[in-house]
Amino acid sequence: MTRATESLTPELYEYLVAHSAPVDDVLGELAEETARLFPDSLVMQIGPEQGTFMTLLARLMGAHDAVEVGTFTGYSSICLARGLPADGTVLACDISEEWTSVARRYWQRAGIASKVTLKLAPALDTLRSLPAGPMFDLAFIDADKEGYVGYWDELVPRIRPGGALLVDNTFSHGRVVDPSITDASVQGIRDFNDHALADSRVELVMLPIGDGLTLARKKA
Ligand SMILES: C[S@@+](CC[C@H](N)C(=O)[O-])C[C@H]1O[C@@H](n2cnc3c(N)ncnc32)[C@H](O)[C@@H]1O
Repeated sequence: MTRATESLTPELYEYLVAHSAPVDDVLGELAEETARLFPDSLVMQIGPEQGTFMTLLARLMGAHDAVEVGTFTGYSSICLARGLPADGTVLACDISEEWTSVARRYWQRAGIASKVTLKLAPALDTLRSLPAGPMFDLAFIDADKEGYVGYWDELVPRIRPGGALLVDNTFSHGRVVDPSITDASVQGIRDFNDHALADSRVELVMLPIGDGLTLARKKA
C-alpha cells in the first residue's frame, strides 16, 4: 500500500482513457487535424481525460462564465464551453490567428460558437482591460509559462467567490524538480507554483492530470 499517486505506465494511461467518458467525433477530429497541420505543436493540446475533467468540473460547479488564457486550436475551450449552460460564456485569449482559425471552425462544429468570444491580443492586455471585479466562475491558464504569475494576479480578483482557477503544466514535464534546469519557462512555472501556494485568497491542490493541473478555489 502507498499513499502516493501511482506512476502512470503507458498501459495504465491507456486504461484510464478507455475508462473515462469517450471523446466524441468533434474532439477526435480536432486532435487529428491539429496533429496533421501542426505536428510539432500537438504537445500543446490538452489530453482527452483532462478535457473531460474540465467539462465535468464546470458542470459540477454550475459555472456560467469562463475565461481561457491560451486557446491554440480550441480543444480546451470546447471542453470548457460544453460544461456551461446554453447562455454561458467563454472568453478565449490568444495571439495566434493561424492556430485560432482552426479553433473557430471547431467551435462551429461543436455547436458552442455562440458561447465563445475570441480576443487576439497579448492576454495580459486583454485581462487588464476587463472590469476589475468578479465576473468569471472558472479560469483556465495555459499560455506562455513566464506569464503565469501575471495572468494569475489579473484573474484572481475577477473570479467570483467559490469559483475556480485551473492552471496547466504545473509539473513542466517533471522539470520543476530538476534544479539543473533553469530556463525561463521552467522557472516561470516554479515561480507560479510558489506564488499560488502563498496566495491566501485561494485554497489549492496540484493534480497529476496531464502535465500537472493545479486546481484552486477562490475563498468566499
Ligand atoms: C499550450 S497552448 C494552449 C493549448 C490549448 N489550451 C489546448 O488545449 O489546445 C498555448 C497557447 O498560448 C498562446 N499564447 C502564447 N503567448 C500568449 C500571450 N502572451 N497571450 C495570449 N496567448 C498566448 C499561444 O499562441 C498558444 O496558442
